[in-house]
Amino acid sequence: MKISQRAAQISPSPTVGMAARAKQMIREGLDVISFAVGEPDFATPEHICRAAQEAMEAGHTKYTAASGILELKEAVVARLRAEVGLNYDADQVCISNGGKHALANIWQTLLDEGDEVIIFAPYWVSYPAQIQLCGGRPKAVMTDASRGFQPDPAEVRRAVTPRTVAVLLNSPANPTGSIFDRETLQEIATIAAENDLTIVSDEIYRNLIFDGRQHLSIAMLDEETKARTILVDGVSKSYAMTGWRIGWLIGPRQFVAKCSSIQSQQTSAPSSISQYAALAALTGPQDCVARMRAQFEQRRNFFVKALGELEGIKCNTPPGAFYVFPDISAHLGRNLAGRQIDTSLQLAEYLLEEGLISTVPGAAFGAEGFLRLSFACSAEDIKRGLQRLKTALGI
Ligand SMILES: Cc1ncc(COP(=O)(O)O)c(C=O)c1O
Repeated sequence: MKISQRAAQISPSPTVGMAARAKQMIREGLDVISFAVGEPDFATPEHICRAAQEAMEAGHTKYTAASGILELKEAVVARLRAEVGLNYDADQVCISNGGKHALANIWQTLLDEGDEVIIFAPYWVSYPAQIQLCGGRPKAVMTDASRGFQPDPAEVRRAVTPRTVAVLLNSPANPTGSIFDRETLQEIATIAAENDLTIVSDEIYRNLIFDGRQHLSIAMLDEETKARTILVDGVSKSYAMTGWRIGWLIGPRQFVAKCSSIQSQQTSAPSSISQYAALAALTGPQDCVARMRAQFEQRRNFFVKALGELEGIKCNTPPGAFYVFPDISAHLGRNLAGRQIDTSLQLAEYLLEEGLISTVPGAAFGAEGFLRLSFACSAEDIKRGLQRLKTALGI
């Protein structure tokens, strides 16, 4: 059957793929420890689940407005105002089927054939694919572990061409957990203003920042930057609600109205029940967020310290999100249990098949020589997984 050229260039998400392979092995009875998944291991808090049940009982089981219920949009803007002091109106919000869908809406609204988007590598696996699906060209600017994965502004400037229309930020970042500091954000805002670029800021991990640091959104710098920025956020990571599929985009009214029109033609609104659950998440008690964050922070501290003690592994301390992204390049070029390991993909496959630990190869994020390991799993699994890693690597 015919497959379009656009579809032909897209491969399945490697993170979802590794997680699925691990799940399959578990179904086959193998005791695999999964460091591959990008979702909290916590259950969705009870009061949120209860709100979903109440929504069903109250008959909220029909289509809602295509861009989401007004109460949820109001809750989104109220929370943003309360937490970081950013002011938006409810009609600047479009509620989508997760942050991923919000991003897909943005690229469809923004991109024409051949338009370029600057992204920062290591990048989340879906960014290049989503941009390409809309006819755009992702242009990666590499960032370096030695600089805490902060981009060099001179390189960002060099990446801008007459076809560049946008720059995409993800702070805190998947897969590195890095946070762009104020100076970096300021430089990017200046480059965007000089070249009239749209800024897309994926802030899905903004509630998962450690060491008492506060989130700084690029939209908080000044009104001019805010006016050219579209924010992406959602409940998946902050409230352990990955399966509920609620995210949103916030930005200039006209742009958001276009995103909403596209959504109305392609998917209509996300699940009505999930929207009411997300409403309870945003308007209910917030101590669940702080509790989960504290647990992630403890696990991060343990993981980074333990990895740092392993021969041939260098690991930054991620200030946010729930991933460690160690440099494992010293182990490439080795022969392990009769297998030649030259790439991060070969290492990840070896670790899964021989060590029964699933990870995601750095190459999937545009960073060969690294592995991504999620600490959104129990402390016990982290300890057991580390032991297996040592055994598999013979260190
Ligand atoms: C950087 C980043 N952005 C967006 C998302 C989308 O999350 P969701 O669609 O579950 O809201 C993810 C999920 O893994 C992510 O890591």
